[in-house]
Amino acid sequence: MNIINLESDTVTLPTKEMMDAIARADLGDDVNCRDPTVNALQEKAARLFGKEGSLLVTSGTQGNLVALMAHCRPGDEIILESESHMYYYEAGNMSAIAGIIPRLIRGDRGIFTGEQVREAARGDDLHFPISRLVEIENTHNRAGGTCWTPAQVAEVAKTAHDLGMKVHIDGARIFNACIALDVDVRAYARHVDSVQFCLSKGLSCPVGSMVVGDAAFIDACRRKRKMLGGGMRQAGIIAAPGIVALDSMISRLKEDHDNAKRMANALSGLDGIKIDMSTVQTNIVVMDISATGRTVAGFLQDARSNGLLLSEFGPGLVRLVTHRGITSEDVDRAVSIIEEKVLKCSGGVCKI
Ligand SMILES: Cc1ncc(COP(=O)(O)O)c(C=O)c1O
Repeated sequence: MNIINLESDTVTLPTKEMMDAIARADLGDDVNCRDPTVNALQEKAARLFGKEGSLLVTSGTQGNLVALMAHCRPGDEIILESESHMYYYEAGNMSAIAGIIPRLIRGDRGIFTGEQVREAARGDDLHFPISRLVEIENTHNRAGGTCWTPAQVAEVAKTAHDLGMKVHIDGARIFNACIALDVDVRAYARHVDSVQFCLSKGLSCPVGSMVVGDAAFIDACRRKRKMLGGGMRQAGIIAAPGIVALDSMISRLKEDHDNAKRMANALSGLDGIKIDMSTVQTNIVVMDISATGRTVAGFLQDARSNGLLLSEFGPGLVRLVTHRGITSEDVDRAVSIIEEKVLKCSGGVCKI
């Protein structure tokens, strides 16, 4: 059976050009900053974001954590959105490892305002932890891949900076936002102190993320990465596909967005399935299946036994993610599987 995997864009496999680049990569010891391929990737990423430096890290989780540790000290507080990946899905590392206290604010589809930051920020009182950092997630995963505009980032960053805080973007999928809104990544980066972005998601690399920021911040991140066991030796084999990704994989994300819209439009026409179309902005679709009367586990199991892989996303919620391995024909087949095999609809009427 030909499997359609919509679980995540992390399932993307490297391209032939990436595999060739891995085979040809010049290598050295990156712990001593002597891997020429890693250095080339880091220079390229820094230039792309208009920042002084960048650092290759093992994963988005590690990139966010080293950034957090470079910006903050134990006992400091970070202001972030209540469903942000850094709070929700990173195993509590900010508290367990970095000693940071999260202060949560609720966004509208993942997006919050400077005013909310001002309200959440602690005053100068020795009873309180020090509010040190604001984190923005762009695109916002749990909100369904929603995009911050550069103006929204600028407004929050100005408030944070006025209050003496730094600003970090978890931009695991920041290029999806850039493509969706047709903006240069510098339009985001220039307002903030640091950005983490993933090579291993829609950009199709097998491993790796990058942190970008000013030179002193990147030096601090390198030290934290070492502390966390993320110093890698001949890491050029990871960096080589990263260079290919930044050169040639960004603009194709539009295809993934088009496929996600096509899929969301079709699915939202099925009985019992609810999709907030205002959140379908990039490559993620979140559907609420509560009204079908099915459990998420049963829904996923029926889809899986018909060759369609989806993921659970909370009570009544199923997430579908498009990526380079998914064609528009796959999208149509996925919709048919859900309609005919999972919901057992016939003639447009489903058994709910
Ligand atoms: C928004 C966001 N940030 C960070 C990460 C973490 O990336 P990784 O899985 O490489 O640790 C993810 C992963 O899905 C993500 O969606």
